[in-house]
Amino acid sequence: MTPTIGVFDSGFGGLTVLRELLSLVPNARYLYLGDTARLPYGSKSRETIVRYALSSARFLHERGAELLVIACNTATALALDELRAALPIPVIGVIDPGTRAAARACAPASEGKQPGILVLATQATVESHAYARSCQSVGLQATEKACPLLVPLVEEGWVPDASRADTSLVTSQVLRIYLQEALEETPAARAVLLGCTHYPLLRQAIERTLSDLAHPVPVIDSAQATAQVVAAKLVAQANRGLPNASNCEFFATDSVEKFARLGSRFLGQSVNAVQLIDLGG
Ligand code: DGL
Repeated sequence: MTPTIGVFDSGFGGLTVLRELLSLVPNARYLYLGDTARLPYGSKSRETIVRYALSSARFLHERGAELLVIACNTATALALDELRAALPIPVIGVIDPGTRAAARACAPASEGKQPGILVLATQATVESHAYARSCQSVGLQATEKACPLLVPLVEEGWVPDASRADTSLVTSQVLRIYLQEALEETPAARAVLLGCTHYPLLRQAIERTLSDLAHPVPVIDSAQATAQVVAAKLVAQANRGLPNASNCEFFATDSVEKFARLGSRFLGQSVNAVQLIDLGG
């Protein structure tokens, strides 16, 4: 039996998690919802984020999801407990898998001292301190850095690449400022954890900037780590095959054309037949 896995995000970023899921658990059926009409979540209040996350999760459950992946750091940070209480299916967020992966990257701990890591995330995620708590539980000390300009830059397609020197420069400079400020606070950071679903698209640029700042530490992606937790939960029905988005249904709460166009950048393959749905305001 192939399980039906519901995956939701405020928009496109969660497709980076779906991408990892497709390669680790290719035989599942996926329902992906991008709540694009109400994005971004990262600058909203806790009450609003919980309300949005609940309606997105309920929609996927009603459509047949047997397991739910909150492929959004902000929704995980602010609404994981509420979603677990509201839904009769397992709910997996992206934060604990990410911090456990960071702990593995930082092992072994230096004597008597908790290794410090740097977590890059949205404003709402940082203010919730969900990463600090999760890091503490695995023996890490987190410095949480809000990087509010990165989501709009990624959504605009301003991801550093050789063919677009002008836009690459802007994004690289923004990244440099954020990382420099964060490293001043945590000069001994042993890893950088990407605490937002958009940041994997900037992974190479982040690695380059860290090297330029003479701080080349591992960069951890919670998308990969989350997919590993889901795969383990499904006992990895281990038939690794070619990732194939044809077993995915896509839903968006705003322009389906934009979702298909931008979504393929995040998913790494084309996103077809997106259905428009209305979850209210
Ligand atoms: N998906 C959100 C996250 O991972 C980023 C975009 C938003 O702010 O809605 O935190």
